[in-house]
Amino acid sequence: MVHVRPFDARDTDAVVARVRAQLLDAHVREPFINDAFDEVDFARALRAQHAPLWVALRGGRIVGHLYGAILDDARGTSAWVGPDGASFDDLDVLAALYAQAGSHWFQRGAHEHWVWIANRDDAFFPWSELGFAKEHRRGVVRLRDVEPVALSTGYRVRTGGVGDLDVARELDAVLDEAQREGPNFFFAEAAPGEGITDTLEDPEVRLHVLERDDHVLAQCVTYPLDLRRGSFDGVVHLSGVVVRDEFRRRGLGAALVTQVLATLRD
Ligand SMILES: CC(C)(COP(=O)(O)OP(=O)(O)OC[C@H]1O[C@@H](n2cnc3c(N)ncnc32)[C@H](O)[C@@H]1OP(=O)(O)O)[C@@H](O)C(=O)NCCC(=O)NCCS
Repeated sequence: MVHVRPFDARDTDAVVARVRAQLLDAHVREPFINDAFDEVDFARALRAQHAPLWVALRGGRIVGHLYGAILDDARGTSAWVGPDGASFDDLDVLAALYAQAGSHWFQRGAHEHWVWIANRDDAFFPWSELGFAKEHRRGVVRLRDVEPVALSTGYRVRTGGVGDLDVARELDAVLDEAQREGPNFFFAEAAPGEGITDTLEDPEVRLHVLERDDHVLAQCVTYPLDLRRGSFDGVVHLSGVVVRDEFRRRGLGAALVTQVLATLRD
């Protein structure tokens, strides 16, 4: 029998231990996940929690916890469960926690619920049983392991500049269109091209284009990723990969991504 109740300061040590064990397990399975964990800081954050945090008990022992941050943005209100926001010994525990948390989030107007999990089937399974679907997937690679794919003569990859803004907007609209087709994908209601304009105003963001005869055929963006729980120093994020429709399935996407990553390594 699983009993769910609001978190109490006395639960702090048990929840900290669960999150520490979970992070270590994730690191053992996937060394790209950093297991560095500031327990004092995390314990302080738990006690200062403004939104409700639930714990599940079985036989008086804590067997799970669930916390979702309620966030408002242009799309409305949604609940976000971070990598340390959930732990559960089994599916019954998660179901009992989500029954409480999910209905609370709904009452608070949060009709979309998002969870960050490791990109593994066994990590996804419990959430899929509750009706969650996959939205975004992220991959990670050690830069020194990237083998740049060569391009045929006439094609080249270069860093984009202000002169590329119009074409960057055009290709971003193509990306936006593709993402609207994705299963259950949600997107910001920005005008086509507006997103990339904002992105490129950030001095840390770099635009990369692949062109032939001065005609841009593909692009992507990169930026340094802030250090956060689970990640390492010196991580770069690559996203917004788009190849013009008529040039797809010829290896250009792979060449762009691998050449950009190889440049960043150097
Ligand atoms: C995704 C996209 C960038 C791929 O570009 P591309 O130039 O066609 O890709 P490549 O020809 O270099 O193929 C790279 C790999 O992806 C695979 N691939 C490409 N398109 C695919 C598709 N539609 N379905 C399944 N696999 C696909 C290729 O088989 C290849 O795999 P391999 O290395 O194992 O052979 C391109 O289809 C695109 O611009 N799509 C719309 C925008 C988008 O969805 N971007 C991703 C979100 S950031």
